Amino acid sequence: MSYFKILGFDKEPFSTSPDPDFFFLSKEHERAMTNILIELRLRRGLSVILGDVGTGKTTLSRKLIQELTGREDFIFHIILDPSFENEGFFWLSLAKNLEINDPIVNLEQPNILGLKEAVERFLFQKGVTENKIVAIVVDEAQKLSESSLEVLRVLLNYETNTFKLLQLVLLGQLELYSKIVNMSNFFDRISFKYTFNPFDLDETREMIEFRIRKAGYKANMHIFLEEAVKEIYQYSKGYPRQITMLCHKALKNLVLRNKFVVDESVVKEIIEEEINTGWQRKNSLAQKNNF
Ligand SMILES: Nc1ncnc2c1ncn2[C@@H]1O[C@H](COP(=O)(O)OP(=O)(O)O)[C@@H](O)[C@H]1O
Ligand SMILES: [Mg+2]
Repeated sequence: MSYFKILGFDKEPFSTSPDPDFFFLSKEHERAMTNILIELRLRRGLSVILGDVGTGKTTLSRKLIQELTGREDFIFHIILDPSFENEGFFWLSLAKNLEINDPIVNLEQPNILGLKEAVERFLFQKGVTENKIVAIVVDEAQKLSESSLEVLRVLLNYETNTFKLLQLVLLGQLELYSKIVNMSNFFDRISFKYTFNPFDLDETREMIEFRIRKAGYKANMHIFLEEAVKEIYQYSKGYPRQITMLCHKALKNLVLRNKFVVDESVVKEIIEEEINTGWQRKNSLAQKNNF
């Protein structure tokens, strides 16, 4: 029997995969989500979300996709790893992933100009003739090379008098900021900018509680006692991925020790083990206020 069933859960409460159903909408996450959806609907072009590793960017992108899936008025594609060897590969991948039905896509060596024209024609057909919103979400956007950023800039030039033909949502680590800040013709086009910071203590507690309930825990008691939550917050510094991992270990330890609530000692023991392995992240993580 799985450890979580023994404790009274239907599902694993603290899996670290970016499952949108387990995404707790903190104030920051909710604000980002609402604004991105507004920007998309208004077809304003470019939204950029920055955040350190483990602050919920990928999970937010999944949530966004979940929100848009099945909607007739949207065509979207998510790029999980935007490391393209050169400009040509990026254009070709866009054309393929947007399922552009043009003979150039199947040529052995399609030229860039032809691909660009095919993409522009497609965006015009979908956006103007069919009145659809075409959106591309780029995760790990800090990996975009200069030439790929240039492709995105060109795409943002495709517009009518009132709206952009392609909507872009970039989610990336803080390095993305230094990559784009000096590209004024790109940076100035960002219509929604946002930075994810780690959770505070209240959000840490709410996120833990949220995931526990989502996983089908029905008992009335708190499985994580307040002092345990405080320990988790202190050690994780409010980073959602760290919180998730600590909680997962804490629950597994409960089963091993035949206990039913996570108190301070359970968490302290895990933290001590982490410290003893020498594997914990020592440097304090970079934070950025909204840019
Ligand atoms: N708002 C949230 N609610 C619940 N869990 C979250 C939230 N944000 C992040 N997590 C958890 O933290 C992990 C890391 O999040 P992820 O989206 O992969 O971060 P990033 O892409 O910024 O590195 C996820 O797998 C998820 O388990
Ligand atoms: Mg990620």
